[in-house]
Amino acid sequence: MIIRTETIDDYKQVYQLNYLAFGNRDDEAQLVEKIRHTDGFIPELSIVAEQENQILGHILLSKASVVDGDKECEVIVLAPIAVHPDDQKRGIGGKLIQEGVKRCKAAGYPLILLIGHPTYYPKYGFKPARSYGLNLQQFEVPDNVFMVKEVIEGSLGTIKGELKYPAVFF
Ligand SMILES: CC(C)(COP(=O)(O)OP(=O)(O)OC[C@H]1O[C@@H](n2cnc3c(N)ncnc32)[C@H](O)[C@@H]1OP(=O)(O)O)[C@@H](O)C(=O)NCCC(=O)NCCS
Repeated sequence: MIIRTETIDDYKQVYQLNYLAFGNRDDEAQLVEKIRHTDGFIPELSIVAEQENQILGHILLSKASVVDGDKECEVIVLAPIAVHPDDQKRGIGGKLIQEGVKRCKAAGYPLILLIGHPTYYPKYGFKPARSYGLNLQQFEVPDNVFMVKEVIEGSLGTIKGELKYPAVFF
């Protein structure tokens, strides 16, 4: 299996993968398509896991901002991540997250934020974001599902304010 940047030729399989992984609904598959057409899309942060020409997993990390008064900081949001139902619990999701974190670090993004399963993401270093002065008003979610991972040392607890997802997420 290889982990690599998504290409245009993968789009169809990535759509189908998200559709299947999210229980035969296409909200997330469509979200991926919409994000690709926005300024927040970073091609190198749309990453796939491929084996024998089959896409088994996909992760999309894209731009968002943390706003505090007139200060605004560019950060990354993780959404969505999907692993084919037949291939879950083999570590593919973890490999995609680790590669995504590595690439965010290389590109200089300080934090990755997400809304997600509270028992899954902590395996990869995500922590409840509100404990670090980050807040979220666009979605009403419990504290333990709004999470952050520090990518650049020293940024957690330093970058504070409200996470603003781009309009494409609504
Ligand atoms: C969530 C998802 C991406 C994880 O990918 P994966 O390749 O199965 O995960 P990994 O193999 O890297 O990690 C497996 C571990 O995570 C746990 N895990 C997997 N899905 C989980 C979930 N939804 N909630 C909590 N834990 C989960 C497994 O039990 C396993 O734990 P263990 O290592 O203690 O045995 C995958 O299950 C998936 O596509 N789910 C459907 C879509 C989805 O919910 N996406 C995330 C939205 S927040």
